[in-house]
Amino acid sequence: MDRAEMKALIAHGVPDTVGVWADLGAGTGNFTLALAELLASGSIIYAVDRDPVASSGLPARHGNDVEIRLVTVDITKQLPLPPLDGIVMANVLHWVKPQVELLRGCRKVLAPGGRLIVVEYDTKRRVPWIPVPVPPARFDALARAAGFAPPTLSGTRRSPSNRTTMYAAVTERIDGDQAATHH
Ligand SMILES: C[S@@+](CC[C@H](N)C(=O)[O-])C[C@H]1O[C@@H](n2cnc3c(N)ncnc32)[C@H](O)[C@@H]1O
Repeated sequence: MDRAEMKALIAHGVPDTVGVWADLGAGTGNFTLALAELLASGSIIYAVDRDPVASSGLPARHGNDVEIRLVTVDITKQLPLPPLDGIVMANVLHWVKPQVELLRGCRKVLAPGGRLIVVEYDTKRRVPWIPVPVPPARFDALARAAGFAPPTLSGTRRSPSNRTTMYAAVTERIDGDQAATHH
């Protein structure tokens, strides 16, 4: 998938305003850079991965003046981040066992109304590279259980090589009265 396709997948969930975001499980930073091109100049992105090597090739400052800060932690154990306007988590949730706990952790670090965008495979089938599949209906259930609004689809992409479909879904942290309305 090239940068333009990644941007198209998540664009619906990313406002073109200045914000502080995180890319959790950033890897080599594919989606970090896509996100950097969607956010307004002056934004900050925390590229978080437990593997310090993976994201070390990312530029500290991206072309359109978005600052990228690297953080090396296990995201299931801690998220040492300031209050965030948004989180992108691409191809990561299906590697994690306590998925609802991870989403609760994301919710805690999001500012009220903060957004969560996940990119996942639309499949229920376990394969070695998708050990805990998160098709859209499962993400819907996980998000609601973790205190998020019902997710909406941001985009889909069918792989020309193996015909699997990826989707991006966006949701937002809900609080107080809003939470009562959604339950
Ligand atoms: C399949 S790669 C996805 C990379 C990138 N988001 C993308 O879509 O190109 C999964 C990444 O999640 C990271 N990861 C998996 N579990 C993690 C955890 N518990 N804490 C931090 N990073 C994790 C891995 O190190 C790896 O870089």
